[in-house]
Amino acid sequence: MSLYAQNARIMTCKIIPFNVEHIQQTFLWVQDLELRRLFLMRGEVTWEGHQNYFRKVLSNPSQKVYAIFADGRHVGNCGFKNMSTSKVEAEIWIYIGEPLERRHGVGRFATQLLIKEGFETLGLKSLYLHVADFNSAARKMYKNLGFIEVPLSGEAKDWQNRGCRIIRMELKKT
Ligand SMILES: CC(C)(COP(=O)(O)OP(=O)(O)OC[C@H]1O[C@@H](n2cnc3c(N)ncnc32)[C@H](O)[C@@H]1OP(=O)(O)O)[C@@H](O)C(=O)NCCC(=O)NCCS
Repeated sequence: MSLYAQNARIMTCKIIPFNVEHIQQTFLWVQDLELRRLFLMRGEVTWEGHQNYFRKVLSNPSQKVYAIFADGRHVGNCGFKNMSTSKVEAEIWIYIGEPLERRHGVGRFATQLLIKEGFETLGLKSLYLHVADFNSAARKMYKNLGFIEVPLSGEAKDWQNRGCRIIRMELKKT
């Protein structure tokens, strides 16, 4: 699928199912302190722990992970988690792992592809996400894509001790 970003540097963007070939590149990204801060990642990152994490995630039916490719390069990952067994709703997440690949329209385009996958392919009716209040870039992107901020409800306890306020955003299928 083609993408004409603000500076026209990135021309194509696609998301493909994440597989073991994508684990090593991802390991480099998740060590970046700024990405960890923005994405609210916790815990120690070791190669073994990282591999175990993806082994678990890839065999978990409530999760789906995709690698984001821009102009043929793997630049980030995105996915669904906490997919309800009735497949009504799921939580989405995304990061562009390469800092230099940000601000070229890829995040927006990949999120649009993820939304399409969720609503049209997986048959979900509602998507939600959690974002740190200080992450103005992500909040703006999600808002521009139609997500609205809603009060954090039952899952609030999972987000304690993150040192910031967590915002929940939702998008319903129309
Ligand atoms: C959030 C993220 C996925 C956006 O991806 P991206 O490719 O950089 O974003 P895009 O270039 O597609 O920009 C989409 C919109 O996001 C907003 N945005 C992105 N970066 C921004 C920044 N640094 N400051 C303000 N707004 C920003 C803008 O509204 C932008 O639209 P515009 O360019 O028309 O103003 C990316 O910054 C990222 O991976 N951040 C680290 C991880 C993260 O925060 N993930 C989300 C956690 S919930």
